[in-house]
Amino acid sequence: MKKDIDWSNLTFSYTKTDKRYVCNYKNGAWDEGGLIDDDMIVMSEDAGVLQYAQTVFEGLKAYTTKDGKIVCFRPDLNADRLIDSAKRLEIPPLPKEKFLESIREVVAANADWVPPYGTGASLYLRPYIFGINPVIGVKPADDYQYRVFATPVGPYFKGGAKPIRVKISDFDRAAPRGTGNIKVGLNYAMSLHAIVTAHNEGFAENIYLDPATRTKIEETGGANILFVDTDGNLVVPKSDSILPSITRRSLVYVGEHYLGLKVVEREVLLSEVFEGKFAEGGLCGTAAVISPLGSINDHGKEFTFSNGMEEMGPVLTKLRATLTGIQEGDIEAPEGWIFTIC
Ligand code: PLP
Ligand code: COI
Repeated sequence: MKKDIDWSNLTFSYTKTDKRYVCNYKNGAWDEGGLIDDDMIVMSEDAGVLQYAQTVFEGLKAYTTKDGKIVCFRPDLNADRLIDSAKRLEIPPLPKEKFLESIREVVAANADWVPPYGTGASLYLRPYIFGINPVIGVKPADDYQYRVFATPVGPYFKGGAKPIRVKISDFDRAAPRGTGNIKVGLNYAMSLHAIVTAHNEGFAENIYLDPATRTKIEETGGANILFVDTDGNLVVPKSDSILPSITRRSLVYVGEHYLGLKVVEREVLLSEVFEGKFAEGGLCGTAAVISPLGSINDHGKEFTFSNGMEEMGPVLTKLRATLTGIQEGDIEAPEGWIFTIC
């Protein structure tokens, strides 16, 4: 039986659910793995993750479709990205098949926690791997734990699809040739001071610039950025140090193949925003879906997009509706995008 939850009013926060998946890496191999009840982790005071932040993670969602199925969106791409992230931090990659199996088991075991169709909510899944044995000299751990837990969530930003106000951060997110293109805890630890500062100043998020020249738009702390130019083309910032968002890659495909948009992936200068080249802007990601930009503030100079602070612009509205329609089974998905759990 579905849990008694006010699904439509969920926020993006943690709720403990019934089952989680655990798999351990010891003596050079991943063990069988399986579901457990215990949400607590006991580890050495000197675990690699605690000392040197050796941890990688993913984020994806499970949805209920109109016809009552429970599905996930492109989990194979999360499996691939977790492998890329693990390799960069000297963590033994988790085999793709094991990742997909863990997702299937966690979602099926927590089926009562998957929000019903039409509520706008979803079951967020958080797979992660961390170094668990004692490490005191700076080196990779020998033993690791992989876990996946699930938590029902609503919109990442308060107000759902209402435009947000963001600022240009004075901090950098990712060094050139650093770790900006992988999903690792350290990228988020270093963003915490910046996000608290932004929130205290009344902004919902930070836009980070490229650290080498501080002229190009990279991404926000937890999402990629998209623009629609004044000719109606989708413009996607290109950089080696942003996270290759699965949502963004999917939206590029949807824009081109479902909506007939021209998509341009290129470097985007901050100055172009203030020159008025873009009619719409938005953040995109698993958590953010598409959250429209209302305005961008650069040290007091503020640019407000033509949609204003109340509504999402027309092109991003269509993109969002098409993507969520595909995810929730209202619109036919491209081959291989939907992973049916049960
Ligand atoms: N960029 C950052 C920094 C993120 O944390 C996320 C979230 O996963 C994204 C982009 C969006 O990626 P995806 O669409 O794969 O969730
Ligand atoms: C996601 O979109 O899944 C993320 O991991 C972003 C995070 C900041 C919540």
